[in-house]
Amino acid sequence: MAVTPESRQWAELFAERTRNDAGDGIAVILGFLGNPELISFAGGFPDPATFPAERTATILQDLASAGEVSAFQYAPTRGLAGPRDAIASRIESLQGARPGDDELLITSGGIEALELVAKSFLDTGDVVVVEGPTYLGAIMAFRNYEADVQAVPLDGEGLDVDDLAARLAAGLRPKLLYTIPDHQNPAGVTLSAERRRALVELARRYGFLIIEDVAYRELGFDGSALPSVWSIGPDVVLQAGTTSKTFFPGVRLGWAAGPADVVSQLISAKQNTDQCAAALGQRLFEEYVRRGWIDEQLELSRALYARRCERLLAALERSMPPGVEWTRPSGGFFSWLTLPVDAAALAFRAVEEGVAIVPGGPFYPDGRGTSNVRLSFSNVADDLIDVGIDRVSALVLAAHAA
Ligand SMILES: Cc1ncc(COP(=O)(O)O)c(C=O)c1O
Repeated sequence: MAVTPESRQWAELFAERTRNDAGDGIAVILGFLGNPELISFAGGFPDPATFPAERTATILQDLASAGEVSAFQYAPTRGLAGPRDAIASRIESLQGARPGDDELLITSGGIEALELVAKSFLDTGDVVVVEGPTYLGAIMAFRNYEADVQAVPLDGEGLDVDDLAARLAAGLRPKLLYTIPDHQNPAGVTLSAERRRALVELARRYGFLIIEDVAYRELGFDGSALPSVWSIGPDVVLQAGTTSKTFFPGVRLGWAAGPADVVSQLISAKQNTDQCAAALGQRLFEEYVRRGWIDEQLELSRALYARRCERLLAALERSMPPGVEWTRPSGGFFSWLTLPVDAAALAFRAVEEGVAIVPGGPFYPDGRGTSNVRLSFSNVADDLIDVGIDRVSALVLAAHAA
C-alpha cells in the first residue's frame, strides 16, 4: 500500500535514539495528578500553600512601575547579572563558597542542567553511574543520549561509595556520576559527610565528573545541611540546582555551578536549546531573594513538610503489615518503601482504590525496584495521608495473604 500522509505512522520516523526504554515515566506521574479524585502520593510536587502568589504579584507590579526592561527582554545565555549575583551570594551563604563569574549558569530548571550536561558529555555507550534508585528525569536525560546508565546501590547513608570504589577498581570508567546527596529522590536518604569526601576523592582519582543535584538541599526539616559535594570538590563537581521546591516550579528556573570549562561548554549547549532562561523568572527570583522572602517562606515550608512526613511515618507505623520497611527522611518530599508484594500490581490496585503511588521500577535503569514504592508526602492534605495509607496497607495485606 502506498504511504499517504493519512496512513503514515509518524512514530516510524522518530529518531532511533528515542526508541530506548527511557519511556514517558514522568508524563505518567504527571498524568495521575490530573485526577482530582485521587489521593496522590505520586508526584514530587510542592504544596501550593508554599507558592508566593501575592509576593510575586507585588514584585511584578514593582518591576512594571519602575519601568524595568531587563525582565521583559532576552537575557544573556549565562543569565542576567543581578540574578546571577543573587544566586551566587545565596550559594555562598548556604554552602560557604562562591562560584566565580565563569563558574555559574542560570538554567531553565534543574532538569535543563541535566539535559545540558548529557548533551555536552555523552556519546553513545558512555557510562554514567547513578544511585539505584534515582530521579527518573535524570535516567531519561542520560538515556536520551544513549548512555550506558549503571546503578550503584544506596543505603541509609546514601550512595554506597565502597561499592562504587570496588567497581572502579575492577575497571568501570564512567564519564559522569550523578548523585542527589540531600533527602534523595526517591529514597529520602542523605549522603553522609564522610562519603561525600570519599566520593570526591574517587572522582579525582578516576577522572569522572560528579553531578550533584541539590533539588531538596534547602528543605532539611531542621534547616541544617551537610557540606555540599561541590564545596568539597569544586574541581570535580558540577552542581545542578532548582528553585522549583523553594520558590515555585511554574517559574522553571535553576542553575549549574562547576568548573569554568564545563560551564562554558554548557553555555554553548544552551545557545541552541532555549538560548536563555526566562528573564522574567530570573528577576522575580532575584527580588524574592533580595527582599528576604525566600528565607521567610522556607521556614514555613520546612515546618509544613516536616509535619506531613511525621504524619506519613505515623500512618505507616500504625497500619502497614509486618514485612514492610520504609525510609525515615530528615527533609525533602519522599519515603521509599520495600514491600513483600509486587509494586506495579499494588500501584494499579491502589488507583482503583483512589490512591496514586509510584512503583519503584522506573527509578532504576536495570529492572530492579519491583518490590519498592515511592511515597511523596509533600502535597497530600494531613487527614488524607491517613486515609490513603490505610487503603494502601489494606491492599498490601490482601496481596500478601493471597
Ligand atoms: C532530584 C530532582 N532533580 C531535579 C528536579 C527537577 O527540577 P526542575 O523542576 O527545576 O526541572 C526534580 C523534580 O522533581 C528532582 O526531584
